[in-house]
Amino acid sequence: MCGIVGCILKENKNVGSILFNCISKLEYRGYDSVGLATYDNDIAVKKAKGDIEKVNGKLNFNNMEGNLGIAHTRWASTGNPTDENAHPHLDETKSVAIVHNGTLENYAIIKEELIENGYCFKSTTDSEVIVNLIRKYMNEGLNLEGALRKTTENLKGSYAIVAFTKDEPDKIIATKKDSPLIVAYGDEGYFVASDMPAVLDYARNIIRPQEGEIAVLTKNGIEIHDENGHEVKRKFRYIGWTPEMAQKEGYDYFMIKEINEQSAAVKNTLGQKENIQKVINEIGKVNRICFVACGTSYHASITGKYLIESLAGIPTDVVIASEARYSAKTWDKDTLVIFISQSGETYDSLMVLKEAKKTSKTLAIVNVASSAMSEDAQYVIQTQAGPEIGVAATKTYVAQLTAIYLFSGLIAGNNKLIDELYEVPAYIDEAVGKSDSIKALSKRYDFADDAFYLGRGFSYPTALEGALKLKEITYIHAEGYAAGELKHGPLALIDEKIPVIVIIPPGDDFNKTMINLEEVKARGAIVLSIGAEGDEKIAENSGEFIEMNPNIKDIIAPLVYIVPLQLLSYYVTLDRGYNPDKPKNLAKVITV
Ligand code: F6R
Repeated sequence: MCGIVGCILKENKNVGSILFNCISKLEYRGYDSVGLATYDNDIAVKKAKGDIEKVNGKLNFNNMEGNLGIAHTRWASTGNPTDENAHPHLDETKSVAIVHNGTLENYAIIKEELIENGYCFKSTTDSEVIVNLIRKYMNEGLNLEGALRKTTENLKGSYAIVAFTKDEPDKIIATKKDSPLIVAYGDEGYFVASDMPAVLDYARNIIRPQEGEIAVLTKNGIEIHDENGHEVKRKFRYIGWTPEMAQKEGYDYFMIKEINEQSAAVKNTLGQKENIQKVINEIGKVNRICFVACGTSYHASITGKYLIESLAGIPTDVVIASEARYSAKTWDKDTLVIFISQSGETYDSLMVLKEAKKTSKTLAIVNVASSAMSEDAQYVIQTQAGPEIGVAATKTYVAQLTAIYLFSGLIAGNNKLIDELYEVPAYIDEAVGKSDSIKALSKRYDFADDAFYLGRGFSYPTALEGALKLKEITYIHAEGYAAGELKHGPLALIDEKIPVIVIIPPGDDFNKTMINLEEVKARGAIVLSIGAEGDEKIAENSGEFIEMNPNIKDIIAPLVYIVPLQLLSYYVTLDRGYNPDKPKNLAKVITV
């Protein structure tokens, strides 16, 4: 899940500072190492293990001159995070430079063959075979573009590659398969990157090259060549996201900024109501629905199942994308397969989408407009959260939920639920207003090694998502459980050292969840409850009680009750001395 960038500027100048600025915007894709290669009469490379700011402090990318170059930020997959494994990679003659995002399944065989033919390797990455293959084919007489094309014919796996050579120093070229890549232009010049936020400061007109195509960037423009080398004409799309939307704007971290932006994310996504109705009309009748997603988006999907089945009576499944190939193969033409994704680039989901398109109607609910998923699915609903940079999903989750609630309410013709959605932004702002008290509370939980989150019905996915938020950024082991399931095993783990967070909004399931709360209290657990303000029964039975607006009933609670859980995770992370925007081992976009 690395981030890659390349650019060629119209005028010769300090390309290092522009590339550094671009690659810094992709740090959410990985931060194990960073590197740049630029061209100014010769190829210069600076790269090292460590996060972008630290490495820049040591190497100073800003003084790398020239008008073209490439950059990379790494999330280590093949090969440990080391200086040698940092990209860009150069061939032995130091005349070709490449950056790569993806994973190559057959690199070991190619590497062996190249070594037998006298090519040298300095790293233990899969990526280094690419630069050596390009050099090999150039040695055989091909130009850079021909050599890259021939190279990709050998590769099995996923890749987005950007390359340049000092033998043809007027261009950079790029290609992709199953890894994201955009090409863009602006006043300064021409850019290629894994993701839009990288280039927003310089270029807002973008296209997405298709598999098998090669993008050729020169000082004079961008050409897209098909697999036979012929130019294909493409219409560039103007992107409305502004560079400011991807800045911290005075907040300490992106995560807290994005938590604060949640009411706006809901409000803006509610503005999609007419579009969603249009999509529903176009889809027509379906007998069955299946959600496919990963992580946080999977949790939003479970809420979707509960809503659609209870409101519209349409049988609905939810499948984790990486597991889909083992189960959901009974889809037919009357099945609607809904893909939920913040990035629209998640590899497992994209692979299932490819399959689902052969049998069924497909709908993508995505946040990133120009993403692969939004281009591949038959129907698209775009959530309006704006760019999310913090690795832990927050505002995109409530935006996904908003789209799912609108979709479910509209197919069921449930105007009461839809009207209630317009109250949600105010409820969210009220919940965010509890920030200071949750910050104070967090000090009582930062010691924990384990935690349980319990919820029932609509609050079950909230329990799963609350636990995921805690474990991914605080590194505290946390489990989300259906409240009624605890007694079937995990209750054995509950004692006076374990915090149990109980999500207990008012509604039909309240009394049953209260019994579960009493069960864990009886085993000595440290109980933190989230429920309706003024509820004496909750107050009596809980060590701590986060009191929410009592008008929020269970069906709408997932959109709001997640907020205190996000804040709790955020403040516990700060108490433990970690950076909430950059959890270890994780990246924002999972393209492997
Ligand atoms: C957790 C988180 C991940 C993503 C998952 C799917 O905070 O963000 O669990 O939800 O990797 O990503 P998308 O939604 O981009 O498909």
